[in-house]
Amino acid sequence: MTATPLAADLPASVRAEPGAGGLPRLVVDGPEASAEVYLQGAHVASWVPTGEDPVLWMSARSAFTPGVPLRGGVPLCFPWFGADPAGGPQHGFARTADWALLDAHESGAEVVLTLGLSDSPASRSSTWPHRFDARLTVTVGRRLTLALEVRNTDDHAFSFTEAFHTYLALGDVRTVTVGGLEGSPYVDRLQPADQQEAAGRPLTIDRETDRIYARAGAITVDDPAGRRSLRVSASGAADAVVWNPWVAKSAAMADFGDDEWTRMLCVETGTVPSVLHEAAHNLGPAHQYKANGKIDRDAFGGPLASTLEELKAQTAALYFTDWLVEKKECAGLLILICSKRLQVTHELKPLRFTTAQRVQRLTERQITQPHRFKSG
Ligand code: BG6
Repeated sequence: MTATPLAADLPASVRAEPGAGGLPRLVVDGPEASAEVYLQGAHVASWVPTGEDPVLWMSARSAFTPGVPLRGGVPLCFPWFGADPAGGPQHGFARTADWALLDAHESGAEVVLTLGLSDSPASRSSTWPHRFDARLTVTVGRRLTLALEVRNTDDHAFSFTEAFHTYLALGDVRTVTVGGLEGSPYVDRLQPADQQEAAGRPLTIDRETDRIYARAGAITVDDPAGRRSLRVSASGAADAVVWNPWVAKSAAMADFGDDEWTRMLCVETGTVPSVLHEAAHNLGPAHQYKANGKIDRDAFGGPLASTLEELKAQTAALYFTDWLVEKKECAGLLILICSKRLQVTHELKPLRFTTAQRVQRLTERQITQPHRFKSG
């Protein structure tokens, strides 16, 4: 693994500096977004698309102390998720290890950082003593992309679990709806660990929540108080974890402000141990594993519709906005969504400020009655 580039090798949009608590960090100031990445844990602590609010939540009480996990951003759980039966630290040692910066470059309007971690004398005497090379590539742009690669450099196979433990910043967790998990079985980590059936409708958060879902696809968090929708997607991940500590647990955590739970929700993607399935990656010598995670957001167009008339009015207005933004000579589409209960938060989300192409896709999939209208 090559050494950390000197400051002189960094592109103009990246600088290396001591961060909170003096921990070394990289600060990205790109045309599309800014970000902060701590070398400890290869921890993305901030991602702020230009002109927008931070998408990642960080606790004002987070420790910034060598060897102590940061509370917020995107901790990387590796080589295990959750408790280690053999007594190692919760969520693995990678989130508190010192990673090396391997590369930093600009790619169009995006800024790409690659950090690396290999086995060390400390890891080889840990409960997971194998030889490995891990790389995390962080692409900072209008979306945040994380790519984890793990290579087995040992002479025997090993298994591991992992997750991107993303803390999303919200206006108010009590009014969000989480879509994309409606059809997925889950384990409630606060109850006896039997598999449960998903409710078939978007998840709302009204209590301490700690669930592992067998993941279906992209997960959307519609946040009317924050007036945006956040989306977490992943490839190579078998599971998603949804976590909010609510009142008592956050009060009990030293690095979590007593009221901060209202402004966050963890939507984690990875492959984690549970009764849902045999959930570990088994990697033979010289083999490599790759996982990819994306965090994205859309504007949230306004209050939810509770009647069909409200829905029609909102949707027409949104399409009219699209038409203006896109400056296309096509008329908008007035959409009626096939939803008996008008539970439309997640169905509406893709309609907001989207391109004509996405409208077309949605039209084909969900729309009963397209209706053309003219501008002005
Ligand atoms: C989540 C787990 O992934 O992480 C929770 O499902 C856990 O059970 C939470 O409490 C925070 O973990 P930690 O180690 O960062 O306090």
